Amino acid sequence: MKRPIAEFGPTACYIPTKVATNADFEQMFDTSDEWILERTGIRERHWASDEETIAFMATEASKRALDEAGLTPEDVDAIVVGTASWDRLLPSQACDIQAVLGATNAAAFDVGAACSGFLYAVSVAEGMIASGTGEQILVIGAERLTRIADYTDRSTAILFGDGAGVVLMRPATDGTRGILSIYLKTDGRLGDLLYRSGGGSLQPPGEVMEREHGYFIKMAGREVFKHAVRLMADACDQALRRAGLTVDDIDLLIPHQANIRIIEATAKRAGIPKEKVYINVDRFGNTSAASIPIALDEAVRAGRIGPGSIVLLVAFGGGLTWASIVIRW
Ligand code: UT7
Repeated sequence: MKRPIAEFGPTACYIPTKVATNADFEQMFDTSDEWILERTGIRERHWASDEETIAFMATEASKRALDEAGLTPEDVDAIVVGTASWDRLLPSQACDIQAVLGATNAAAFDVGAACSGFLYAVSVAEGMIASGTGEQILVIGAERLTRIADYTDRSTAILFGDGAGVVLMRPATDGTRGILSIYLKTDGRLGDLLYRSGGGSLQPPGEVMEREHGYFIKMAGREVFKHAVRLMADACDQALRRAGLTVDDIDLLIPHQANIRIIEATAKRAGIPKEKVYINVDRFGNTSAASIPIALDEAVRAGRIGPGSIVLLVAFGGGLTWASIVIRW
């Protein structure tokens, strides 16, 4: 397959207004601003209100991207959504976004790959464009993780934030700009390091789910951390090799924003200098599938990405799943 087949059009994001600082957690359990900042790099994260559902946040962001492209919701051929915190389990999150947005001509479905969900969704959208199934595709990463965080578990509750990011993908318009390479990887044997067991057919609502806090995200943080650094650095190498580029060609690395120590260690291992790494984990915490599209939108608006920029996106999360994409803007 000869790339580029697809390019990124306008980006947009929606961030809930309510901010939770580290001091807010000091009221809930035994923790401190110092610990959270030093171990994670997080200062604050955004908490969605009852009205700010995933469907709402994703729709607001999608409207902005479509406006910028001069398109209407009816022009959208497909909506592909990465999320791990669906508003409801059935129908898919994408169907509810399609309905609220009024994208009546769009096929809509979710991609389940946790924090790597946005990059997996980009890969699916590229395939749809390659096969001629659609031309204008909204690729969304959106999460309301604060509703499935366990506020009796200090090691995970402090990490998560809410928000939505979107990119409008379309066929590449010239032979040089667009997606240059994609690398996707999974190791399901490590699924128990980061999971949410309750509410599915295996552990339906009831006494067991209640007792085991099955409704909430559970993570073996230290183990996940080790895999994250090793596998994200490797994913950077893999995507660059597939694109026929080296680290020196990169203008900006946008890694999944889970922990500043993971981001710094990944960049160091991959040989990418700090100035070329986009970081916003301090302001948003971990927004899972939303973290890369939110950072991407910020980077575009801040002028850190412009026409011709080589951007490397790298994600890692539950599954375990990981992924990387090189794009010439
Ligand atoms: O987005 C998907 C992928 N997710 C990630 O990549 C996250 C990966 N993991 C991490 O970011 C880190 O492992 C955490 C931030 C979750 C935890 O940091 P850590 O440095 O790995 O801490 P730890 O789990 O090894 O715990 C060290 C100590 C423990 O105390 P003891 O057993 O040494 O006495 C914890 O109980 O820190 C304690 N601790 C806390 N102390 C104060 C855990 N959470 C807190 C807290 N405040 N919030």
